Order: sequence, then structure tokens, then C-alpha cells
Amino acid sequence: MSTDVPAKTHKLYIETVGCQMNMLDSEMVVASLRREGYELSDNVGDADTILFNTCSVREQAENKTYSALGRLRAEKKKNPEKIIGVMGCMAQKDQQLIFQRAPYVDIVVGPGQLKEIPCLIRKAREEGGQHTAVGLGRTDGKVDDIKRSHETFDPMRDPTMRPTPFQAFLRIQIGCDKFCTYCIVPMTRGPEQGRDPDMILDEAKILADQGAKEITLLGQTVNSYRHVGLNKTTRLADLLYKLHDINGLERIKFVTSYPKDMDYELLTAVRDLEKCSPYLHVPLQSGSDTVLKRMKRGYTVADYRDMMARINETLGSAAAVSSDFIVGFSGETEDEFQDTVKLVKECRFKNSFIFKYSERPGTKSAERMPDDVPFEVKKRRNNELLDVQNAISEEDNQKFLGETVRVLVEGPSKRSGAKVNERSDKAGLVQLTGRTHCDRIVVFDGNERLVGQTIPVGIFEIAAHTLIGTVITDNASSGQSVTLMG
Ligand code: SAH
Ligand code: SF4
Ligand code: F3S
Repeated sequence: MSTDVPAKTHKLYIETVGCQMNMLDSEMVVASLRREGYELSDNVGDADTILFNTCSVREQAENKTYSALGRLRAEKKKNPEKIIGVMGCMAQKDQQLIFQRAPYVDIVVGPGQLKEIPCLIRKAREEGGQHTAVGLGRTDGKVDDIKRSHETFDPMRDPTMRPTPFQAFLRIQIGCDKFCTYCIVPMTRGPEQGRDPDMILDEAKILADQGAKEITLLGQTVNSYRHVGLNKTTRLADLLYKLHDINGLERIKFVTSYPKDMDYELLTAVRDLEKCSPYLHVPLQSGSDTVLKRMKRGYTVADYRDMMARINETLGSAAAVSSDFIVGFSGETEDEFQDTVKLVKECRFKNSFIFKYSERPGTKSAERMPDDVPFEVKKRRNNELLDVQNAISEEDNQKFLGETVRVLVEGPSKRSGAKVNERSDKAGLVQLTGRTHCDRIVVFDGNERLVGQTIPVGIFEIAAHTLIGTVITDNASSGQSVTLMG
């Protein structure tokens, strides 16, 4: 009889903040650790390995991570064998500073070195000591070496890590070269690189085989995607045509777009390819030319208006455009802010993400421009713009009242919790949530079996950010013609 004791299973707790890039990175780190026999745990106390996947885009995101690390000080004292790791953008930006602020951290790993995590954890566990793996700074060597040090390891996928296995992110672009003056991303993610189209297509096929119905292509300026091969240059529109042919995929989205690169070729592809979502996330950041110039965004309000005209001309009312804004950027006057309010009213975005300017050390604006708009003013402008946007979103959602939309069901809604049945008059139903093809959130009661399916939902109530509806069953729709929107 064998007396072998089974190897101890390691337990991993991972916390992810930041953008979709980080969600994808976490998915891949989990996949690589699962291969080493790790199991996921949702409890810090239970885990022997704790990882934070971090974001540096605003100071608040970093403060949250440092507080979370602070809370682990006692835990690590009690259990010194626990491995604590900081990965992602803050790891790249702060590097050794993390060890200074939290000396009990064992590993610090930048977004381009994530494949080294299993090895670094092993090292820390077996040899002790602190270990760092980060990419090169933007002026720390030859461009090709810098690029290589920020490359990612995307093809390693784990469908079980995705919140919804039928939805997946697919990175097509690494880094950013736009250098907007306020932004840390070109420093944390390195130079802009379009991934090889063959690799992207192979990965999309794997994802479709794993059951992904919707893929979201990721890039900081995803529509600037360009890959120069031996014989040809591939752009985002070319990729869309190829991805469209993959069996099993139903929906293709891409984020985040850059206004100047939203050209007719791309918009025509979005119009002609039915799997392509007409949802376009194209951050404007400010409606004032002087602010845009200080931000070094590379376009004017007139350029943005031209882009909106191209979108409306090509996609018409099917288009759903959303935006990001920074309020209280260095030197922003009340008049400049009001120009933004005016433009939001003019563009009528589906929704907008609004942020208070946060000065980031290492960026041009931090070096050259004072962060001189008081916090209270930033807060008031943020709320004012949000109110304007919410009113527009709610008004625009009116057009869905009484209509039927096709919804990819994502799962129980956040509010549903365990008591969902109480909300519903029919036993066995839960409150579900999903999205239309144009990215609108829909909430309705239904059986959990519907999760992962694309179904018709009739809309009877609306709010600024949600459409509320009821599932149209075969019985209800037989004999009726249903016009599908969105
Ligand atoms: N690559 C995307 C955005 C990346 S960051 C793009 O170019 O559109 C996501 C959003 O965070 C930005 O659109 C911007 O609105 C906001 N942001 C970036 N840096 C910021 C800063 N220093 N302070 C406040 N918001 C910021
Ligand atoms: Fe940052 Fe500008 Fe690049 Fe977007 S385009 S990631 S805002 S530098
Ligand atoms: Fe944050 Fe890095 Fe994304 S700074 S927004 S996690 S690219």
C-alpha cells in the first residue's frame, strides 16, 4: 500500500481592480497557477497565497490597494509562510516603493511579467526574500527591448475563471503611445503593440470552442490597432471580418476607441457585420478645445463632432456611443466645464463615465501643470455632469418601451441575492440581468437555466441605466410578429 501523502494544495486569493485588461490578466494568472495545482479561495484567512492585481489610473485606486495591504500586516505576522504579491500597473509604477510601504510583501510583478508569477511564488516560498519582475521604463533601452518587456501571455485561458464562461475578453493591443498628459497608462503598460492577427484569430477560435458567445476585443485605443506583417498591414476592420466567420461567436465588441481613428472603413464593418455590436466607447474627456489641448488628446471638438457625424451617417439610430470625462483637470475654468456640459447635451451619449482629475506622478501634467481645481469644485462638476448624462440616458431609453430586445443573459442580478424568489410571483424564477447587442443592461425575471442564452425580452419599464422587461416565451410570441430592437 502506498504511503504517499498527497501534495498540499495551495489556496489562492486574488483581488482585481482597474480595467478589463486587469480582469483578463487575473484570469490568466489564475490559469497558470491552477496548472500548478492551486485552488481558488474567496477568503484571505484561508489562502496561503494572496495576490492583488492593481491599477494606478487614479490615486484613489492606489490608496485602496495600500489600505488592503495594510490590513494584511497582522495576518503575515501571524502566518509568515503566506505569500503576498502585488501585480499589475501599480507594481510597474511603484516597484520598490511597495516594499518600503508594505515590507511584508513578497513579490512585485509588472503586467508584462505575469508569466513569471508561478516561479516567483515558488522562489519566495522556498528561498524567502523579496522578488521583483517589472518591465523597462519608457526611456530605459532600445524600443524593441522595452516592447518585449511589456508583452503579455494571452493564449493561456481558463473559462472557469470568467464570471460568465460564454463571455470573454481578447486582447488585441498592448500598451499605449498617445501620452495624454494626465495618464499613467503609457508608463505602466509600455509601448503600443498590435498583437499578431493569426494569434488573435487562433485565440478567438479557442474561446469559441470553450463556449464563448461574446468576445470583447481589448486595447487602450483599440481602433488604432495596426499590425505590420511581412506582406500586409492588418487593421481592426480586417480583424472584424475574419472574427465574424468563427462559428459559435454571436457578438463581437471592442473597447476603448480613440476618436480620430473611428474611420469609415471600421464603421462600415460594424454596420455590415451583424455580429459586431454597434456599441462604441469613444472617450471625449472634455468638451473644451483649450482643455483638450492641455490634455494633449490630439483632436478638437470639431474633430469629435465630425466623428459623431460619421457614426450617425454609417450606423444611424443603431449606434450606441458612450464616453469618459475628466472634470477639474488642471486649470479647468467654469466656462471650459460648461463647454463639456453643452457637448454632452449635443452628443447624447448612451452613458458616460465621469472622473475627477487625479494628478499622477510621472505624467506630463503632474510635471508641468498645477492640480489647481479644488476638490469641492471637482465634486460639484462631477455631479452636475452626471445629472445631465443620466437625464439623457433615461430619455433615450424611452424608445425601448414596449419593444422587444435580444438579451444575452449574464446571470442573477446583483440585487437578486438569495431572496430573489420573493420578488417574483412564480416560484423558481430569479431576477436575471443581461445586455442587448448595443450594450444596454436589461433586468427581468426568469429561470436560471436561461443564463448564457440569447433570448427576446419585452421592455415595460425603463430607468437611466437599465431596461426592465419580461421574457417573451414561444407561446406569447407565436402568431405575433416581434420587432427586435438593439
Ligand atoms: N485608453 C482609454 C482610457 C484608459 S483610462 C482611452 O484613452 O480612452 C480610463 C479613463 O480613466 C480615461 O478615459 C479617463 O477618463 C480616466 N483617467 C485617466 N487618467 C486619469 C487621471 N489622471 N485622473 C482622472 N481620470 C483619469
Ligand atoms: Fe491614457 Fe490617453 Fe493612452 Fe487612453 S489614449 S490610455 S487616456 S494615454
Ligand atoms: Fe488601471 Fe492599468 Fe487599466 S492603470 S485602468 S489597470 S491599464
